[in-house]
Amino acid sequence: MFTIEELEELVKDCKKCRLYKKRTNLVFGEGVTNTILMFVGEAPGADEDRMGRPFVGKAGQLLDKALTALDFERKKNFYITNICKCRPENNRTPMEDEAEACLPYLRRQVLIIKPKIIVCLGATAAKYIIDRNTRISQIRGQWFERKGYYLTATFHPAALLRDESKKRLMWNDLKKVKAKYDEILQEL
Ligand code: URA
Repeated sequence: MFTIEELEELVKDCKKCRLYKKRTNLVFGEGVTNTILMFVGEAPGADEDRMGRPFVGKAGQLLDKALTALDFERKKNFYITNICKCRPENNRTPMEDEAEACLPYLRRQVLIIKPKIIVCLGATAAKYIIDRNTRISQIRGQWFERKGYYLTATFHPAALLRDESKKRLMWNDLKKVKAKYDEILQEL
């Protein structure tokens, strides 16, 4: 089994799909790796591509603000990554073959980190992690137990930038994540 650093080293020159051609940096993921909590988004945007770090643009800052209010911090208690590790041009939704090419890396990350809770940020993450045929508005805030993981989904933070009314709903979803996190820590 690889360490997360070894895996990142292996992945960084990936050319398994067309997205490598236009990337500045591959965005592998970051945060603490001895954690029970993992967040998964869609794919890097322009800021992330430039910096090689996930969720550092406007949407990421909004997410960090909400998470900090719940005492969740990348340097302290969670890991964050994306379904696709390279930026699709113009921030389009990743194509199925791009997501399929990249998913083995996410599976490896999960096997190494062994989170108990995986939070899907937005429809793309929910599609590939929870259910291919569902809508984010239908499943958000619910728990799905699979193979020892607690899976849940909430809106992508970029959706909140477009529609303020989603903020309260996402906040409710994140509070459920916090409650589950505290519950699991108590049991450990
Ligand atoms: N949106 C995502 O889904 N992931 C990022 O890392 C940034 C924006």
